[in-house]
Amino acid sequence: MTEHIENLFLHVAAPGILGLKPYVPGKPISELERELGIRDPLKLASNENPLGPSPGALAAVAEAMGELARYPDGGGFQLRGALGEHHQVDPAAVTLGNGSNDVLDLVARTFLGPGTEAVFSEHAFAVYPICTQLVGARARVAPAHDGSAGPRYGHDLRAMRALVGEGTRVVFIANPNNPTGTWLSSDQLLEFLEGLPQRVIAVVDEAYFEYVEEPAYPDAGRWLERFPHLIVTRTFSKAYGLAALRIGYALSHPQVADLLNRARHPFNVNALAQVAALAALGDQEHLERCRAVNRQGMAQLTAGLEEMELEYIPSVGNFVTVDLGRPAAEVDQALLRQGVIARTVDGYGMPNHLRVTIGRPEENARFLAALRQVLRR
Ligand SMILES: Cc1ncc(COP(=O)(O)O)c(C=O)c1O
Repeated sequence: MTEHIENLFLHVAAPGILGLKPYVPGKPISELERELGIRDPLKLASNENPLGPSPGALAAVAEAMGELARYPDGGGFQLRGALGEHHQVDPAAVTLGNGSNDVLDLVARTFLGPGTEAVFSEHAFAVYPICTQLVGARARVAPAHDGSAGPRYGHDLRAMRALVGEGTRVVFIANPNNPTGTWLSSDQLLEFLEGLPQRVIAVVDEAYFEYVEEPAYPDAGRWLERFPHLIVTRTFSKAYGLAALRIGYALSHPQVADLLNRARHPFNVNALAQVAALAALGDQEHLERCRAVNRQGMAQLTAGLEEMELEYIPSVGNFVTVDLGRPAAEVDQALLRQGVIARTVDGYGMPNHLRVTIGRPEENARFLAALRQVLRR
């Protein structure tokens, strides 16, 4: 109802808020059940892990339930120690966040503000423009590759570098990027970081790191000593299957971490998330199973799309984005009526594309059958 009435509070809102549109998440299963009366919907809309977390993480959460009356460890001592060991960095280099979204927001609040600029690519993850705008900084958006000198829709690091100027404080790079699934090699990223002035913070967002199997794909966390202006972000929401608990982290120079920690809310990461993440990190076998399911699911989905003669963007993540050759919103609606939740990406300037998360084999088959029926292919 309220959307038709001009908001009376516009003039009192902070300037950054006015140009913002709220982030549109994947439709929750409960909403589809409620709206369309559909039972047993299939959600492949938010790049979640179809196998869920490690059983050890579930057990750790159950055990921690007895302590819900207590505040969590605000410093995340144990988890930061384990992450330090995992990445072979000083725990002081680790900043925990309420999801890696929280970490990206911390970066913006720490290094951006009115009169400064952030650089990122066209079709890059939606949170970069949101957190830039929110703090009143200016977004400089570099055109993505058109396919002639790099993967179509992928980040063009030369175009991004060309936008870095006096006012630039942060460059956001998603590797791989969501929703395109495109990725940058070690050589490409190293060349970029070497050419970037040290007064500019480079954020390399590796939310899908654990899924990537390309030999030339870098682990940017190994470059912290070489590039003190580098921040690498990771999450437990994707391959570790803990999206509901909201936990992610940054790796950076300890002096950068010190600044991020000043902006961090006390207790930003809840106690259940901390114990679950610790257990999940310790169960690399489960992670390997998740990777295998993703690898096979990617092959299954892309083979099905090829059979339907649909073009998709080659992806190294746990999702694939398909060009339907017509507005994806209609197809998305038709899929919803069949109980299948995928994700349109028109907010990314890709109105004909639909993004689908890799599921378990039977889920992928259900998605492909529904798409075939909707498109009559
Ligand atoms: C590229 C990228 N970065 C960061 C995130 C944030 O994830 P979370 O806040 O759950 O860690 C996502 C989630 O979809 C993502 O796709």
